[in-house]
Amino acid sequence: MYAPTYPIRTARLTLRPVTLDDLDDVHAYQRRSDVVRWMRGAGPRTREQSRASVRAMAAEDALRAEGDCLTLAIATGAGVIGTVELVWRSRPDRTAELGYVLHPDHGGRGLATEAATALLDWGFGELGLHRVFARCHAGNEASARLMSRLGMRREAHHVRSYLFRGEWADQLVFAILADEWRARAR
Ligand SMILES: CC(C)(COP(=O)(O)OP(=O)(O)OC[C@H]1O[C@@H](n2cnc3c(N)ncnc32)[C@H](O)[C@@H]1OP(=O)(O)O)[C@@H](O)C(=O)NCCC(=O)NCCS
Repeated sequence: MYAPTYPIRTARLTLRPVTLDDLDDVHAYQRRSDVVRWMRGAGPRTREQSRASVRAMAAEDALRAEGDCLTLAIATGAGVIGTVELVWRSRPDRTAELGYVLHPDHGGRGLATEAATALLDWGFGELGLHRVFARCHAGNEASARLMSRLGMRREAHHVRSYLFRGEWADQLVFAILADEWRARAR
């Protein structure tokens, strides 16, 4: 089983597992259409849907088997403002997929970058990952900029590759390798 030593502290944030007490904070952004706009299969969530989501995320506190998701709440003095996650895609290839969501009221200050950086530090460090990738809808410019800011390389632009709200959509794939992450950190 792999999990960070909680909490992870950064300059402005605390990262720790989601708890059921985070429901109000999580629902505050999950209910917004601008937050789910580019997310596959997700519409603005009702409070009950957020409760189910929080319950699921609360169980994602460690990586126990390939396919598991580690989800960390991004907390400030103002409460939980988003989440960052790593999905363990391949044990033999030591590969994981990065994901993130931030309440728009807290956007534009580098907080998602700060949280993702801390999670990648753990993933490439303690967990020993070789490669981390992330994907987004080609229209999700904020997400693509975040991946570039993290030093990830744009490796693919899949054309009309997946069904998004009933239409074929383009998807961008970004990735970074462990040695590139370490070189960047230096
Ligand atoms: C993707 C998402 C997390 C990006 O949020 P964000 O606020 O742009 O990202 P950050 O918190 O890292 O802030 C970066 C922005 O703050 C600016 N910034 C200000 N201070 C900064 C600092 N100290 N460090 C880094 N960036 C800083 C950056 O220039 C950048 O702005 P820009 O993109 O206009 O150039 C957010 O748009 C989101 O949650 N979207 C909805 C969910 C979603 O689509 N998730 C991804 C699914 S693929």
